[in-house]
Amino acid sequence: MSKRWYQDNRRDAWRRIARSKGYRTRSAYKLKQIQERFGIIRRGDAVLDVGCHPGGWVQVAVEEAGEEGLVIGVDLLATSPVDGASIIIGDISEEDTITRINQTLGERELNVVVSDISPNLTGRYDTDQTISLELSTLVLDAAMEFIPPGGSFVTKIFQGTGIEGLVTAARDRFSNVQRYSPTASRSASSETYLICQNRLPQPKGGARGKSASEQVHNHLSELGIVVEEESDEVESKVGFHLIKKREEE
Ligand SMILES: C[S@@+](CC[C@H](N)C(=O)[O-])C[C@H]1O[C@@H](n2cnc3c(N)ncnc32)[C@H](O)[C@@H]1O
Repeated sequence: MSKRWYQDNRRDAWRRIARSKGYRTRSAYKLKQIQERFGIIRRGDAVLDVGCHPGGWVQVAVEEAGEEGLVIGVDLLATSPVDGASIIIGDISEEDTITRINQTLGERELNVVVSDISPNLTGRYDTDQTISLELSTLVLDAAMEFIPPGGSFVTKIFQGTGIEGLVTAARDRFSNVQRYSPTASRSASSETYLICQNRLPQPKGGARGKSASEQVHNHLSELGIVVEEESDEVESKVGFHLIKKREEE
């Protein structure tokens, strides 16, 4: 890690505030600001945090849901225990992870899914943005397995190609969808959050019978981008990984 990176981050006021208040990450303040603005988590809610390591959002979710609440965090990486939360190590794209979430929920129904999910960044914006779009879309599809009508969903997105496809997929499933950039995000960051409230009992017409992933694929095709799913060149499990402009073929 460069000296510059270290200095930049030491200067980060939000990180200092978060640390002084006992939160594991600066990101905790992003969820706190989302909560202040939209009141996504109510007392007693059951909340799933997808991509929860190292646990800052889980800490905030536990505070907001209170003693009657239930908070489940899931991540590929191990997360140190957070009082009042259940942590699952797993990949949200895998069926086994969904099963374990269901087992942890027991008889309860989830009210809210929040996700600050992020890939291992390569530093190449186009690649990182594409994988991030794919992960957020995947989380939306996973969330649809759990959230009942009236429930809420929050996910991180990075501005760029294909984002409108995800926004449309969200609008087809929730009555109120807004983008929001907390001030705790870096000012130069292209990161923003999609705040989706009030899940509809049925997806709107065009989305019926389709997953969000299919809708985003279709959107990318309409933009003149080809998404190839079946290929020997597959390098990762995620679905939009082979994206080529038609003119490059
Ligand atoms: C920015 S971090 C989350 C920070 C967290 N909100 C906090 O405040 O502590 C993003 C996380 O997403 C996780 N992630 C990425 N892909 C995932 C996947 N397929 N399933 C589960 N977690 C994933 C990463 O391991 C990473 O820990």
